[in-house]
Amino acid sequence: MVLDALRAVTDPDLGVDVVTLKFVKDKDITIDGDRVAVAIEMATPSPSKRELVASRAREVVSALGAKDVSVSTSFVVKSVSAPEHGKPPLPGVKNVIAVGAGKGGVGKTTVAVALGAALAGAGRRTLVLEVDPRENAHRMLGIAPSGGEIAPVRPRLFLQNLRPRAVLDQLVREQVRIGPVVNRILSSEVYRHFAEGAPGFKELAILGHAARLVRGLERAESPRTRRNRDGGTGTPDVDVVVLDAPATGHGLSLLLAPRLTAATVGQGPFGRMAGELAAMIDDPARTGVVIAAAAEEIPMHEALESLSRLRDELGREAQAVVVNGLFPPAPSADAEANDPAGRLWRDRRAVQERELARLAAAWQGPRVDLPLLPLDSGPALVEALAARLAGAEAAA
Ligand SMILES: Nc1ncnc2c1ncn2[C@@H]1O[C@H](COP(=O)(O)OP(=O)(O)OP(=O)(O)O)[C@@H](O)[C@H]1O
Ligand SMILES: [Mg+2]
Repeated sequence: MVLDALRAVTDPDLGVDVVTLKFVKDKDITIDGDRVAVAIEMATPSPSKRELVASRAREVVSALGAKDVSVSTSFVVKSVSAPEHGKPPLPGVKNVIAVGAGKGGVGKTTVAVALGAALAGAGRRTLVLEVDPRENAHRMLGIAPSGGEIAPVRPRLFLQNLRPRAVLDQLVREQVRIGPVVNRILSSEVYRHFAEGAPGFKELAILGHAARLVRGLERAESPRTRRNRDGGTGTPDVDVVVLDAPATGHGLSLLLAPRLTAATVGQGPFGRMAGELAAMIDDPARTGVVIAAAAEEIPMHEALESLSRLRDELGREAQAVVVNGLFPPAPSADAEANDPAGRLWRDRRAVQERELARLAAAWQGPRVDLPLLPLDSGPALVEALAARLAGAEAAA
């Protein structure tokens, strides 16, 4: 009966009642005569929101006739939730580009998705743009695959798996505009070769797409279009695009492409577009670069190389380095002397500390360390890492 009554208590972030969310179960309710105690576990760290829920719960349980009602709430990370509004990580940057410095598996996509969740939680309309045909990010956020479309994840957070070829085709449609000619171009062998092989064009398509999404925002700032911002149809205007750059090749080739293309194609629509995108990349107020790294020898080597290439070839500093997958500090050597798992843990941690020291010597800019968590790829992992990113002093 008490549990049923609690269905009238809604989580303010999620808009769903606390019983459906399994924030409170039968075992969390103790009844002793007309005394009732309820313990609710919530997904928000915000004490004020938890108090809101607690007081509503007290109300509905008291209405059942209980004389003495106590409700306690606690914070556990358990599902997709909109984190508390707070200070956005990487303030002042419109497009954040997450570049995985490692060849794979450093957690680049995880970091990009967590950063997107943290930015959305801090009140910015954010699109996570995944450019990877393997399509993983939707699983991390607990939604269905988007099939290339922009999928809403929760308030202010969107996800898209981008197919560069589709964007290039769209570009041709817009530039040429005459139906039969467009069809002839798109189906021609020459175009296919060009779209697949011409160096830099896929990268241009990806960045061009990101640029349009954030430019949509500039348009939307006018009062006339602003009211369309939350309209259900069409492309949502976003404040930030977090780009999980393609895993193939060096992540930086994406950022270098506009410059190289602008220099080689000269004038014409593509040349102009390349020039505009190069200007966007060069402007730290519009584009931020986040290097995702792991504290292991080869990934760290690649991260350091990316930092120096950014500096040398683009004249830019990264916005932050995110070191992902850190083991917690190992227990003391004595306690675990004969335990192989303890030894393994200590050895890994020692390697990671060595690599962190190498990073500290080369990079004094903002750094966020993310722990290796005992969670499967999915919303709970993303939320836990997003909370760390949002709270990281280093990113301020
Ligand atoms: N901090 C973490 N704690 C626990 N698991 C993690 C963490 N970061 C990443 N993982 C896991 O590591 C795996 C690889 O992560 P992810 O797909 O983000 O890597 P990636 O760098 O994008 O790889 P690729 O280069 O293949 O695209 C995933 O299963 C992910 O859940
Ligand atoms: Mg990835």
